[in-house]
Amino acid sequence: MRILVFGRVGQLGSALAELLPSHHEVTFLDQPEVNLSQPESVPDLITEHAPALVINAAAYTAVDKAESEPALAQLINADAPAAMAKSCRIRDIPLIHYSTDYVFGGSASAPYTEHAPAAPASVYGRTKLEGEQAVAGETDRHIIFRTAWLYSHIGRNFLKTMLRVASEGKPLRVVDDQIGSPTFAWDLGMASVAAVDALEKGREDVYGIFHATNSGVTSWYGFAQRIFEVAGIEKVDLSAILTESYPTPAPRPAYSVLDCDRLHQILQVKMPDWQDALSRCVARL
Ligand SMILES: NC(=O)c1ccc[n+]([C@@H]2O[C@H](COP(=O)([O-])OP(=O)(O)OC[C@H]3O[C@@H](n4cnc5c(N)ncnc54)[C@H](OP(=O)(O)O)[C@@H]3O)[C@@H](O)[C@H]2O)c1
Repeated sequence: MRILVFGRVGQLGSALAELLPSHHEVTFLDQPEVNLSQPESVPDLITEHAPALVINAAAYTAVDKAESEPALAQLINADAPAAMAKSCRIRDIPLIHYSTDYVFGGSASAPYTEHAPAAPASVYGRTKLEGEQAVAGETDRHIIFRTAWLYSHIGRNFLKTMLRVASEGKPLRVVDDQIGSPTFAWDLGMASVAAVDALEKGREDVYGIFHATNSGVTSWYGFAQRIFEVAGIEKVDLSAILTESYPTPAPRPAYSVLDCDRLHQILQVKMPDWQDALSRCVARL
């Protein structure tokens, strides 16, 4: 299948570059070939590459910075995916897109299903939700993976930050009252490959939203503890704090656990446990 992927250099894009089976003819577009803050450039790119499937691995992911750049976040996270979806509808091809646990308010106490009401508390979450709604409004032939706490051995993320700060011998104060599921970008990449396989087989029952995180839950503090255990770093000044002691421009959901049952039922993907995923990721550092 001829596949056009927006975003090669990010965490997910890097995973897709490695994991998409070699029989596909895959083209990745990054800046400067494409600037998603100019969504009007998207249709011509899709026409030029004439793909049978579009995957959007690009996004504005700077959660705190988005609070002061809402217009830019809106263009990249909502308007550009809307333009992709419209082009895909016109060409009658599917679109795979990605979203976030930040579309939820975080006040739940049981895992969010795909149908749970959204209530984003940040600009990032709001623009990602608008992206989801725009994609779904433009084309039925969409798959949206909502993921959370994404990390990898590539790119900038919590894992890399913890290891860097620890190597500098600085103390680490990490919030212990935000609960979620750390997710290795490679496992999200594998779920994406399952979706591509299903689309290639012509399955029509695989559209819609899927929650896709590694299984199991922890806090950011629990994640940090496990990172140092797995990386074999014993001398680290790590302590747990409450969210109120670490104010950020964008509020974070207190509870971000996503119910991934639909992914298992429809795409037969059982996401691995987060601790197993972390070990595989650290082994690649
Ligand atoms: N990271 C997380 O914790 C997390 C959590 C939940 C959901 N998600 C979602 O998962 C998906 C993948 O996230 P990720 O962590 O892989 O993202 P990432 O590592 O931050 O990568 C973002 C990608 O978007 C591209 N991009 C940003 N601005 C662009 C622009 N104006 N024009 C063209 N490309 C642009 C980047 O390219 P450049 O580097 O060239 O700008 C990069 O390829 C996104 O939809 C994200 O919202 C992420």
